Amino acid sequence: PLLGGPLKVMIPENLTMEQVVEKNPLMELRGQYQPPNCWTRHHTAIVVPYYGQAQHLQHLLFHLHPFLQHQQLHYAIYVVNQVNNTAFNRGKLRNVGFWEAMQEEDWDWVFFHDVNLLPEDNRNLYICDIFSAHASVAIDKFNYKIVPCSCYLGGVFALRPVHYLKINGFPNTYWNWDREDNDIAARWGGLALGRPHLLFGRYHMLEDGLDHSHEQSPKSPGFLAEIQSRWQQDGVNSLGYTLLSKELQPLYTNLTVDITVPAPGTPVP
Ligand SMILES: *[C@@H]1O[C@H](CO)[C@@H](O)[C@H](O)[C@H]1NC(C)=O
Ligand SMILES: *[C@@H]1O[C@H](CO)[C@@H](O)[C@H](O)[C@H]1NC(C)=O
Ligand SMILES: *[C@@H]1O[C@H](CO)[C@@H](O)[C@H](O)[C@H]1NC(C)=O
Repeated sequence: PLLGGPLKVMIPENLTMEQVVEKNPLMELRGQYQPPNCWTRHHTAIVVPYYGQAQHLQHLLFHLHPFLQHQQLHYAIYVVNQVNNTAFNRGKLRNVGFWEAMQEEDWDWVFFHDVNLLPEDNRNLYICDIFSAHASVAIDKFNYKIVPCSCYLGGVFALRPVHYLKINGFPNTYWNWDREDNDIAARWGGLALGRPHLLFGRYHMLEDGLDHSHEQSPKSPGFLAEIQSRWQQDGVNSLGYTLLSKELQPLYTNLTVDITVPAPGTPVP
């Protein structure tokens, strides 16, 4: 009943985390939320790979908490904070976030969420009623051009835990921005992919000064063949990391990880 449709995306100047906390009084510690006056059927974990984009994170939290609360979900937000001055490794951070989130709760599905994407319509439900869902199908920066479905999967998308394990999660070995979203689509194979109504799946992209032109672009058949030959060796079954700290913030759980060294004894399925 609380879904109003299109949202005005506000980017307040000089926003502070304290202000965002104040605006969300119903949050329990660790960024969890339960609707106060109904029993919810949906339990959603949100995993946000993070590499020091503090302003973006504040704007995401400012926008995403009311968005999710209007959907009356039980949810939690996990920020996976990469330390060390190596290149951003979004795939591996997603694997860590998945793993740590599932230790806490039996989540129905996990949404992987880029820190710089703000949903523009709250009828874009953060649940996935089939196996998986690609939520961010149209982004303002790309003139809301609809992404081709089968060759790219990035931005905001969801998997049920059982299917995440089936595709062996994400690659751990891409130390940069460009390839993992095509890789994940290649792993996907025949899994059915749900998408919101194209008008609901719209997002605003916060500018980060990085080149995103490679995104949303399918890669060569040779690249896809290469993935198909080795995805079973590179993924959640070869995940090594050290959890340096886990801080329970009012609006999120901050998982700080060192992913540069494969840590002996880290759990693998
Ligand atoms: C934001 O901060 C800058 C620098 O301190 C200040 O000039 C500006 O007026 C502030 N904007 C708002 C909306 O408070
Ligand atoms: C990464 O950072 C952590 C914490 O600062 C440190 O303990 C670790 O040795 C670093 N790893 C590398 C490979 O630099
Ligand atoms: C997460 O925790 C680390 C370690 O305390 C801290 O350096 C970092 O600023 C925190 N990040 C966020 C987004 O809270």
